Amino acid sequence: MSAEHQTETAPQPLAGKSILLGVAGSIAAYRAADVCSQLGKLGARVTVCLTSGALKFVGEATFRALSRNPVLTDVFVEPHQERIAHIDVAQSADLVLVSPASANVLARLASGMADDMLTACILALPPGIPILAAPAMNTHMWNNPATQANVALLASRGVEFIDPGSGLLACQDVGKGRLAEVETIVSCVLTRFAQMQTMDLYGKHVVVTAGATREPIDPVRFLTNRSSGKMGVALAAAACARGAQVTLIAGAITATVPPGITLVSAETAREMEAACNAAFASADIFIGAAAVADYAVANPSAVKLKKPDAINGTLTLELVQNPDIIAGIGKRKVAGQVVIGFAAETDNLIPNAIQKIQKKNLDLIAANDVTAAGAGFDLDTNIITIIRRDGSSVALPLMSKHQAANRILDEVVTLLP
Ligand code: C5P
Repeated sequence: MSAEHQTETAPQPLAGKSILLGVAGSIAAYRAADVCSQLGKLGARVTVCLTSGALKFVGEATFRALSRNPVLTDVFVEPHQERIAHIDVAQSADLVLVSPASANVLARLASGMADDMLTACILALPPGIPILAAPAMNTHMWNNPATQANVALLASRGVEFIDPGSGLLACQDVGKGRLAEVETIVSCVLTRFAQMQTMDLYGKHVVVTAGATREPIDPVRFLTNRSSGKMGVALAAAACARGAQVTLIAGAITATVPPGITLVSAETAREMEAACNAAFASADIFIGAAAVADYAVANPSAVKLKKPDAINGTLTLELVQNPDIIAGIGKRKVAGQVVIGFAAETDNLIPNAIQKIQKKNLDLIAANDVTAAGAGFDLDTNIITIIRRDGSSVALPLMSKHQAANRILDEVVTLLP
């Protein structure tokens, strides 16, 4: 694939977030469809749970289509024999939104009941997972001391309420009890996620390279290396979660790229260089995590090489040096742009890495000894030493590539103007 092949996506601030959307039996249940759709467009993976009351107002098919996920309705339906669905759902949710929350569901939650799928999931939530509830009911039901006591009790346990509005209700009564506007509900979810995570890269354009380049020998063969792209993809995902606009320029990768990231595919070092130069013009941060081939075949064959092409049993490939992409970027960077390189070494880790900072004009380098246990290619873990321009360094212990990505970004943030 050439560098022109790109996947453009709209900014998705909820990319990678799992939301359990509980829908209770209120006439406002139909508005949950819009909430579900908007959360999905913002990148969230939404799992919808309809109570039996909700099922009287809205259908499962609507929410299955909008969330592109199976809809939960029954605590005794176990799609996987070896797992317990409501525990799985509770453990994978980053946030729970009950919208609309009926008087009945508030009462059941307040008394700690688990008599249906929604209440069972909520009771099984690990501590710290935010629960947002947007009540909707008749004004007398809302004002009833029993409901108000339930709201107060739930609020004291950390449930966050999105206040209902006042006006003419579906039942023709006038007063408080109308579900908050869909936009308000969605914006409360966004705000809650923003509070939970550091959005310190908001407004920044981060360009990350990842994976191995491939240098063709002939139409079916190429020279490449063992890089999986996992470290680069972890950096791109972490930057995206911290609010950045992220362009990932990827060679061959086995790691899955989460939504919300602009993916540019590049096969050869030359293609990657062109894509990097184009993206760097608007970049605040450039991170070169790709394993770029140092050499390309001088004259790749237009047809598949055959055994008789060898002379005396030897086939000689002439190699030419590839451009050093990050060194070129280092030369072109202007004040305010930060460039971070990687140094995968097998010996003399720190001196080699320090040399590269100078030679390539980097602001920071992340060095790792690829022979150390837990730090090699295609692993989910890494052992990184972060080295600054002044030679000072931070040796991180063995950790997941995702954690290491965040530690590198913590350091990058201190270099921003
Ligand atoms: O010189 P070495 O390959 O060890 O340097 C590694 C760093 O340089 C990494 O950040 C890698 O992405 C980058 N690099 C590059 N172009 C090359 C070779 C390496 O951008 N041709």
